[in-house]
Amino acid sequence: MKVLGIETSCDETAAAVVSRDAGGRGRILSDVILSQVDAHAVFGGVVPEIAARAHVEALDQVIATALREADATFADIDAVAATAGPGLIGGLIVGLTTAKAIALAAGKPLIAVNHLEGHALTARLTDGLAFPYLLLLVSGGHTQFVSVEGAGVYRRLGTTIDDALGEAFDKAAKLLGLGYPGGPAVEAAAARGDPARFALPRPLIDRPEPDFSLSGLKTALRLAAEKIAPLSSGDVDDLAASFQTAVTDVVADRTARAMALFREAHPATGRGTLVIAGGVAANQAIRDRLVTATSQAGFTLVAPPARLCGDNAVMIAWTGVERLALGLTDPLDVAARPRWPLDEMARPVLGHGAKGHKA
Ligand code: KG4
Ligand code: ZN
Repeated sequence: MKVLGIETSCDETAAAVVSRDAGGRGRILSDVILSQVDAHAVFGGVVPEIAARAHVEALDQVIATALREADATFADIDAVAATAGPGLIGGLIVGLTTAKAIALAAGKPLIAVNHLEGHALTARLTDGLAFPYLLLLVSGGHTQFVSVEGAGVYRRLGTTIDDALGEAFDKAAKLLGLGYPGGPAVEAAAARGDPARFALPRPLIDRPEPDFSLSGLKTALRLAAEKIAPLSSGDVDDLAASFQTAVTDVVADRTARAMALFREAHPATGRGTLVIAGGVAANQAIRDRLVTATSQAGFTLVAPPARLCGDNAVMIAWTGVERLALGLTDPLDVAARPRWPLDEMARPVLGHGAKGHKA
């Protein structure tokens, strides 16, 4: 089984071909990602209109490259999968419409993929994981714990009531004059700084539900910076280190809580597995803390390679493979959805709703 995947929900134009053999093992045959980061950097964030136009310009070529590298033609693939949401609507429509055109012209089934499901299932491709497992998805648009119980069966255990984790890193970077995208810049500055110099809050720590709140931490960082302005580069490093350590403490505490809930729900599952995904999963300080937190709780930490943690089309193609195997295909009039929660039954969280435009 061979599936072409297309991803255009945010600022990466991506296409990939993934196969699965009779034994269930997946193989990445091609993985093409064209980042638009330079086009948006001057604006300090993703501009939806620019993103949509850039997808239109690049997508045909990106798909052609993905097929060529996989040594495949439209006739060789068994289905075409595209991200249908959540994300920026202009980009979603570009990718999904292209997939529909290919499906119609080549006579192949279409699979409309939830981008978050792509992040959730990647570890089954890279590590051959069996269900169930616990997912911590931390990106620029999403921060959530999900119990992954089957393809299409997800239960959200916790989320953020305000900013996403990557968004908090991006805002901290902007405030400290470190540029965009902020996560890697904050991490680099933090490595040089003193994490104990500023006492920043650890919001929601010890709360029973594994939710996050990050906007208060961002405000505390701004106040600490304003108090000592103008900032020397040493001050910036110390602020970044203090911020990253506070975030890391919060992630470790919330993850311990989520693992306990997962364990209660799945008492028969011997050793549990925690999978991390999303751009923030590239942060080494967070990874190191999660290694400790998971081993203390009797869990194994699985972190797919950084390239597959950020946005890519391999995860969309693989989700297509999993859904096709279950006979889950979509009609050609399926619509793109800017909002599309993985768990439609999840409890509402106070103050949540304004975010989630990207994943
Ligand atoms: O999943 P992703 O590539 O794209 C979406 O958000 O859809 O995640 C990007 C986010 C950005 O907010 C970026 O600042 C953050 O991930 N990020 C990091 C690091 N690398 C990327 N945050 C903290 N530390 C990092 N090393
Ligand atoms: Zn994403």
